[in-house]
Amino acid sequence: MDHFLYRDGALYAEDVPVAEIAAAVGTPFYLYSTATLLRHFTLFDDALDGMEHLVCYAMKAASNQAILATLAGAGAGMDVVSGGEYRRAKAAGVPGDRIVFSGVGKTKEEIHLALTGGIRQFNVESEPEMEMISRVASGLGMTAPITVRVNPDVDAKTHAKIATGKSENKFGIPIARAREVYAQAAALPGLDVIGIDVHIGSQLTDLGPFELAYQKVAELTETLRADGHDIRRLDLGGGLGIPYTRSNEALPLPSDYGALIRRTVGDLGCEVEIEPGRLIAGNAGIMVSKVIYLKEGEGRDFMILDGAMNDLIRPAMYEAYHDIIPVREPDAGAEQAPYDIVGPVCESGDTFAKQRMMPPVAAGDLIAFRGAGAYGAVMSSEYNSRPLIPEVLVKGDQFAVIRPRPTFDEMINRDTIPEWVEGYSAAT
Ligand code: LLP
Repeated sequence: MDHFLYRDGALYAEDVPVAEIAAAVGTPFYLYSTATLLRHFTLFDDALDGMEHLVCYAMKAASNQAILATLAGAGAGMDVVSGGEYRRAKAAGVPGDRIVFSGVGKTKEEIHLALTGGIRQFNVESEPEMEMISRVASGLGMTAPITVRVNPDVDAKTHAKIATGKSENKFGIPIARAREVYAQAAALPGLDVIGIDVHIGSQLTDLGPFELAYQKVAELTETLRADGHDIRRLDLGGGLGIPYTRSNEALPLPSDYGALIRRTVGDLGCEVEIEPGRLIAGNAGIMVSKVIYLKEGEGRDFMILDGAMNDLIRPAMYEAYHDIIPVREPDAGAEQAPYDIVGPVCESGDTFAKQRMMPPVAAGDLIAFRGAGAYGAVMSSEYNSRPLIPEVLVKGDQFAVIRPRPTFDEMINRDTIPEWVEGYSAAT
């Protein structure tokens, strides 16, 4: 459930007409709902009620500070994967002891940054990284709390580009080698080995792979404890999928996922962390765009939008499906027609949907991409010299621009032309 609904013939974001925001900020833009963000966070938080836990929002999904501050204010921690995300989380007011640091390639500088700024734990992904964290921590006279990310070799049954838990993926340490690696970690002076981390992939629409992975983590917890490690925290990653189409609305709910966690690892007496990103932000955001032209092609019609693959790359990159709906509610029973819905970028990959049945739409009309809150704005680029599109946050009947659209000059003036480029003279 989200808070983007038709009311009196017009799409609303909570209590604000989407068209009113479009008139104020121009198109295209991203639009998020505070109520939906909070609702999704609370579903997870409630699902783990009664267990010692922290929901660490995977901020890679949508990292605007207004979103982070909204979630942190409700009690969320953050899962970060870069020094930039760490700094952003801190800037949004998230305390270090609520930030976990994931990712396969943490640099020495990033480790230093997190240790000095405060960190809940590092999720370590390799032996060399483990040694680096120990070295940096020792140099600072500290011990770094770590978990080791294990790769359980489970098929997450999701898109190949977002599956991470198979042995062929670059992530984690093969679970078969875990005992050896934990023994090495325990011997390093700068580390406090506190737990186990696992994350098997994203947009999982079936709980089966989670169950397999978490069972393996439960077994490993017992084994490592028997080896003398004080395993007291389990980071179970993110990955729960969301409905992108109305036909797959019967997906597992956070409450089902919580019950599964309880069933598989609930008796171990460990504190539990989860790292959901998509389920919190995905359906809490839409991308609003305008129809520029309707173009008649040979055997197919094109709907050309002002939004493009640089603004929302998921369809081009993962063949992802997003519902595309008009902002003005179509009449009941309005006849639908198929369109290829495309952006203005100069490549055929700039196609959001092929032969999508759409109600009548005209040039100048606004349309909305649903489910665009996660991995939308954060993956956008300035390809074709198209400035990053703004982000707007709604709360009840208020809205605010939370990242303005840069001017063309701001974008262009980041480049510098060295004086030794021949034949150049500045425009006057
Ligand atoms: N934790 C770790 C270590 C992760 O790598 C990820 C996502 C998450 C948590 C959050 O997963 P979520 O709950 O959002 O599924 N750009 C792709 C998704 C990439 C996911 C990468 N890792 C997309 O647009 O579908």
